[in-house]
Amino acid sequence: MENILISAHSGLRWIVLILLLAAIVRGFARKKTGVYEKGDKMLNLFAMVFVHIQITIGIVLAFLSPKVNYVSGWMGMKAYRFFGLEHVLLMLIAAVVITVGRKKGEQLAAAHPVKAHHKIAVTYLLALIIILLGIPWPFRTELGAGWI
Ligand code: HEM
Repeated sequence: MENILISAHSGLRWIVLILLLAAIVRGFARKKTGVYEKGDKMLNLFAMVFVHIQITIGIVLAFLSPKVNYVSGWMGMKAYRFFGLEHVLLMLIAAVVITVGRKKGEQLAAAHPVKAHHKIAVTYLLALIIILLGIPWPFRTELGAGWI
């Protein structure tokens, strides 16, 4: 069970990254058109939903994974500090930024479509940067995570 969740959580990162990137590029490009339509709404929604799926799996993993272990002195141990604090905190912040940014953007969509695109693209970009910083990339060898 734990292995399936880790594989799903690891692989889904790529869907999350691709969807966020697509939403950001589309948002900035479509700002110039002055319209916010169904395709924009759907892409922004899907990007947020996949972030939420990732958060849900992550929360379950936090209870199952041996990499989350609050043994005495865990803050001084890089891998335990990363998975027990940094990863969780950064990803939760990113999810809040995305959720609030999309909500505010959607509220602007009818009256100010350009502002809606701008709001969502900027908040998604900020969240993408936070997520990239929070991913246990394999080159951080002490974290023992893979590419997929
Ligand atoms: C957008 C949000 C997130 C992304 C993109 C993400 C991405 C990842 C990636 C790529 C790994 C490494 C998997 C591997 O190859 O070993 C990982 C591991 C892990 N993540 Fe996340 N994560 C997110 C959110 C969260 C959250 C919110 C939590 C906890 C509340 C969490 C808990 C964990 C745990 C415990 C592991 C270690 C699993 C293990 O190897 O035993 N993640 N995450």
